[in-house]
Amino acid sequence: NIPTPHNEPPLSYLPNSKEAKKLKEECEKMRKEIPFEVPCIINGKEYKTGNIKEQLIPSDHKNVICKFHQVSEELVQEAVKGALEAKKKWEEMSFESRAAIFLKAADLVVGKYRYVMMAATMLGQGKNIWQAEIDCTAEVSDLLRFNLKYIEEIYSNQPKINPTAVWNRLEYRPLEGFVLAITPFNFTAIGANLPTAPAMLGNVVLWKPSSTAIYSNYIFYKILQEAGLPAGVIQFVPGTGSMIGKILLKNKDLAGVHFTGSTAVFKHIWLESAKNTMSLYKSYPRIVGETGGKNFHFVHESALIDNLVNHTIRGAFEYQGQKCSATSRMYIPKTIWPEVKEKLIKEVSKIKMGQSDGKIKFKIKIQKDPTSFMSAVIDKNSFENIKKYINEAEKDESVELICGGKYDDSVGWFIEPTIYLTTNPKHKLMQEEIFGPILTIYVYEADKYEETLELCDQTSPYALTGAIFANDREAIDIAIKKLRQSAGNFYINEKSTGAVVGQQPFGGARGSGNNQKAGAIINLMNWCSPRSIKEGF
Ligand code: NAD
Ligand code: ALA
Repeated sequence: NIPTPHNEPPLSYLPNSKEAKKLKEECEKMRKEIPFEVPCIINGKEYKTGNIKEQLIPSDHKNVICKFHQVSEELVQEAVKGALEAKKKWEEMSFESRAAIFLKAADLVVGKYRYVMMAATMLGQGKNIWQAEIDCTAEVSDLLRFNLKYIEEIYSNQPKINPTAVWNRLEYRPLEGFVLAITPFNFTAIGANLPTAPAMLGNVVLWKPSSTAIYSNYIFYKILQEAGLPAGVIQFVPGTGSMIGKILLKNKDLAGVHFTGSTAVFKHIWLESAKNTMSLYKSYPRIVGETGGKNFHFVHESALIDNLVNHTIRGAFEYQGQKCSATSRMYIPKTIWPEVKEKLIKEVSKIKMGQSDGKIKFKIKIQKDPTSFMSAVIDKNSFENIKKYINEAEKDESVELICGGKYDDSVGWFIEPTIYLTTNPKHKLMQEEIFGPILTIYVYEADKYEETLELCDQTSPYALTGAIFANDREAIDIAIKKLRQSAGNFYINEKSTGAVVGQQPFGGARGSGNNQKAGAIINLMNWCSPRSIKEGF
């Protein structure tokens, strides 16, 4: 049996703790050794194509964490060929042997490589200690361990009835062909999950990591190799998403796409794969996409205000609002708004912004402190996009700045935690995913609770996460019903972020994806093609 998984307990990183010291040492060592060089890895061989791109440190963008070699078109084709070759042995290997590789990888992630993974995620993706800890150690290992246990459950799900002289059984075959895994920057854990989940079931995978998360993703790939992953089973192919996508979506052996990223890219993948279905591919491809969100906190007048403020600040501003689940719109009744406003302003003013590994001192209110609550946003594109929203809001009469609203890209891509109030509940700040530290609030008349719940449901094209804050049980009950389709992950008196593997399977519908719940059976079922066998005696 697969060992019963548990959620990896995060370490505390209290000042002077053993783990805080070790992490600091690792960050300092990494700083001295940058820039690293990252190759493509195909059939177990490293390829240095010379077509180099740089991953910059978001909070210190004059420095490069790694230079990576982008895959060429020929290498992509080579990777498909090699993967299909590797599949012959991989799919025949016993589940126990396959599972042992990923269990060992989970142990390496939380053991030998814990601080390296964290330092790479902190430096390269701008996470503070705790955001790195819950992402690239706890969640990575949880996903590996829980997925294996769920696969064991899938395999053991067999026909219940065997009439006399008949033996019925289900064989959970891997898909015919290869799976393409395309991963985003914002969670190292998603980088780890998307290629490994299909591979655990005997599939081979081409993994295109995000260009702004290459280094942590590469370290994870090396861990898989150390754990014994055979050559060719997962091919590490960094490069341009559009180029790799274009080639692979036109490949006759494409059997599935495991994607997490923006809604626009997923729509493109969906449409492209639809064009080639049945005219090119052997089977209908399994397309799984977890995409954007415009996540809400909906507040009833009975809400406990301190709890609301705490959860809202964490939901909106942890990791600079760059979680797909980040709280980015809020509905508050007029009766409690003055108190909520005062407390939000007070608490936001205490937020420290700093560099994730605490190396450099900044001119603005940004400090050399790895325990800072916030750091920089991921890259220049993202900074410019968020800046555009801030600049537009400044001129907009239907929007009032409550706090924040400043930015500085002289050293890193820093944006202050920013809160707006709008009188227009359908304002684009209430509808569009900004993917930065911006929260927009709409204040409603307390006696319009139910109408405003309906408004919340109908405001944005997304349906990823959302929360109701209330103490009144009837109000909670109404919200659960009215917001039934508004979020794939729904929270009661809890922030919209922070789903834990094995506890709250994660994913949304509408514009947020096809809700195949990362780290859950529903997701894993996509990566097998069961064969029913009836044998008569
Ligand atoms: P992104 O869509 O820009 O990139 C995601 C991946 O797609 C990258 O590897 C990128 O190179 C690749 N890509 C880009 N264009 C492509 C193309 N034409 N064909 C194939 N691949 C292509 O997203 P991002 O900026 O890395 O991540 C942020 C987005 O991801 C946000 O919208 C966020 O909400 C979403 N996200 C969703 C979830 C979820 O579970 N719902 C989780 C994390 C992130
Ligand atoms: N698991 C992450 C969260 O819920 C995506 O915030």
